[in-house]
Amino acid sequence: KQDLSIGLLGLGTVGTGVVKLIEQHQEELVHQLGCQIKVKKVLIRNVEKDRDVQIDPTSITTNPEDVLNDPDIDVIVEVMGGIDEARQYILEALQNRKHVVTANKDLIALYGPELQEIAWKNQCDLLYEASVGGGIPILRGLTDGLVADRIQKLMGIVNGTTNYILTKMMDEGVSYEEALKTAQELGFAEADPTSDVAGLDAARKMAILARLAFLTDVSLNDVEVEGITNLSSEDLNYGKTLGYTMKLIGMAQCQDERIEVSVQPTFIAKSHPLAAVKDEFNAVYVNGEAIGETMFYGPGAGSLPTATAVVSDVIAAIKNMQLGINGRNLSKPRFKRKLKSLDQ
Ligand code: NDP
Ligand code: HSE
Repeated sequence: KQDLSIGLLGLGTVGTGVVKLIEQHQEELVHQLGCQIKVKKVLIRNVEKDRDVQIDPTSITTNPEDVLNDPDIDVIVEVMGGIDEARQYILEALQNRKHVVTANKDLIALYGPELQEIAWKNQCDLLYEASVGGGIPILRGLTDGLVADRIQKLMGIVNGTTNYILTKMMDEGVSYEEALKTAQELGFAEADPTSDVAGLDAARKMAILARLAFLTDVSLNDVEVEGITNLSSEDLNYGKTLGYTMKLIGMAQCQDERIEVSVQPTFIAKSHPLAAVKDEFNAVYVNGEAIGETMFYGPGAGSLPTATAVVSDVIAAIKNMQLGINGRNLSKPRFKRKLKSLDQ
């Protein structure tokens, strides 16, 4: 086959990054795959909108069926966000035996296990590296690099928008409203930023991480959540005078076969490495029984960093196609662990 065709659902911050990255890194892709990747169809809502990327106008559509039913398309990349339509399109793609790459943590946190089962049944890949930590390859780190270990704890910063807001408020005295507005302009925030500032986005990511780290079912209801909306500049400044900085910290631990997952604003000593994680950057400490402590760090949001994770998943799906092993990816544990939930 000369070119491999992908279909893109969404052409916003992440989708634009995906198109640019595929175009700019064609040479690397050919080295990896022996063929080119072509973005054949792109689903959007508003055809009048100015786009920050050159795209063949004939590939643009507002009809999802043009993308999902195109027989030339092997991989569907869902970067539109939201839950109901995204779920419906991904289900249709999997039923059409197309591999799916998504950055949608809202969807994966709620329906990940169900979609994963359908993907496996159809011998399709469902990959979602970009759903946690933007460009940081943390899901592969857990499901591949650290798969030999027994993970005990994860702790860190998994939301770029709130980290950006807290950094600007504490380091530069910028107001909460202004910092949030800039985070939105830079494309870090969700379409509805309430999920960022209320801690829900981080909770969804912690649920996904905990599932993969502890090989068990973790639902959003298992996560204790508090966001940053009740913090005042006075609180932050008071902490600062005592040598602390405020971070929205996600934590997941597994002790005595019992898991605990939470997201809450926490004062961190300025000497702690997490205090040095600024702006939209994320960092997650992973504690394993054998490895001890390791840390994943990098840009947790933004167009090209997130696109890196998305396109890496596309490459993985295509390599699996070339080897004929789709739906048998490394993240599939052979057995689930039976753990007690929070209230047991
Ligand atoms: P944007 O809001 O910037 O872009 C969404 C795109 O999807 C737009 O092009 C929009 O079309 C299109 N779209 C949305 N709904 C529909 C629909 N019902 N039908 C057709 N097209 C639709 O979002 P982002 O790129 O920021 O985020 C996309 C996904 O990636 C989300 O799940 C987000 O959580 C996730 N993500 C985002 C990161 C980031 O840094 N922004 C990082 C990691 C993950 P139109 O342009 O016409 O409005
Ligand atoms: N809104 C998210 C964040 C995007 O700020 O972290 C990356 O998942």
